[in-house]
Amino acid sequence: MDLISALESLEPELEAGLAQASSLEKLEELRIEFLGRKGRLAKLMSQLPSLDPAERPKFGQRANELKESCNARFDKVKDSLLAARERASLARFDSSTPGRKYWQGSLHPDTLIMEEICAIFEKLGFDIAQGPEVEIDHYNFEALNMPPEHPARDMQDTLYITDNILLRTHTSPVQVRTMLARKPPLAVVVPGKVYRRDSDLTHTHMFHQVEGLLVDKNISMAHLRGILTVFVRDVFGPSTEVRFRQSFFPFTEPSAEVDISCFLCGGVGHIDNEPCRVCKGTGWVEVLGCGMVDPAVFEAVNYPKDVSGFAFGLGVERIAMLKYGIGDLRMFFENDLRFLQQF
Ligand code: PHE
Repeated sequence: MDLISALESLEPELEAGLAQASSLEKLEELRIEFLGRKGRLAKLMSQLPSLDPAERPKFGQRANELKESCNARFDKVKDSLLAARERASLARFDSSTPGRKYWQGSLHPDTLIMEEICAIFEKLGFDIAQGPEVEIDHYNFEALNMPPEHPARDMQDTLYITDNILLRTHTSPVQVRTMLARKPPLAVVVPGKVYRRDSDLTHTHMFHQVEGLLVDKNISMAHLRGILTVFVRDVFGPSTEVRFRQSFFPFTEPSAEVDISCFLCGGVGHIDNEPCRVCKGTGWVEVLGCGMVDPAVFEAVNYPKDVSGFAFGLGVERIAMLKYGIGDLRMFFENDLRFLQQF
C-alpha cells in the first residue's frame, strides 16, 4: 500500500477503535497506538523522505490535518467518558449517610475564668491593663518595696534572663507600670501569665493571675472588702461569705489573705457527718491576697501623698479548680482533650 492510502486508512480505523473504547484507560491505549511519539501516524511521517519530493508537501499537510482531527475526536470521547464516570459516582452517592464530625476547639478553662473575672470587674468600672511577661527587676521587685536581698524575694524565685531581667513572678509589676503611665483616680484589673521556680502537685512553673489595683483619695479597707465581696458572690454564688486574715506583702500595708465560705458544704465544714473535701472541714477556702497599697510603692511612682488605694492578686487556676472541682493543677497544662473538652 502506498503511503498516502496508508495515511487515509488511519482515520476509519481510529473511528472503529473509538467506538469500542469503553474506559479512559482503553482510550489512552488507543491514543498512544495512533498518536503517540512512536505511534502509527508518527511511523508514517517518518517515511516522508522516501516520497517523491513533489509529493512531500501534500503528504505533510494531509498528515497534519489528520493529526488535528484525530486529537479533536479523542478529546470528545474523553469528555463523554469523564461525564459518564461522574454520573456513575453520583448515582452511588448516598446523601443520607451521616457526615464526619469536625474537630471543634474550645476555650481553655484558664481563658474562661480570666474572661469571667475581668467581665465582673469591668462591670464595676475597672479597666483591663496588661504588661510584659519578661520584666525588669525594678518593676517586679524594687518599686514594689522589695529591694535586693529582701527575704520576700526568695518566696518568688524565678527564671532570670540577665541579672536585671526576669520572667515576672506575679502580675504586681503592672501596678507600677499602670501608675507610671496614668494619674489617679484609676482602677485596673490585670490578667496574665506569671512564672516561678516551684514545681509540685499544687505548683507549676507557669500559672495565671489576675491583679487588681484601685487608687483614689480616701480609699479604705472597707472599699476593698466591698469590691471583693461583690466579686466572690458573682463567681461562687450570692450567699458566699468573705473573711480577711492578716498577712504580709511588702507592697501592701496592712495586708490580708481572703477566704470565702466553702461553697460545697456551705461553710459548715461537713457533709453528712463527713469532713468536707473542699475546705477540709474548716468551712473556709483561701482565694486571694490583698491589702492597702504601701506608701513606699506610691513613693516609687512619685504619686502625691494624699492618695490611697488597694490591690489584690488572685490565682486563676486556683479559682478554676474550686469552681469546677478540678483535683490536679497539672491537668491545666497537659493538653489532654478529654479534660479540655469538658469546658
Ligand atoms: N503579688 C502577690 C502574689 O503573687 C499577690 C498580691 C497582689 C498581694 C496584690 C497583695 C496585693 O503573691
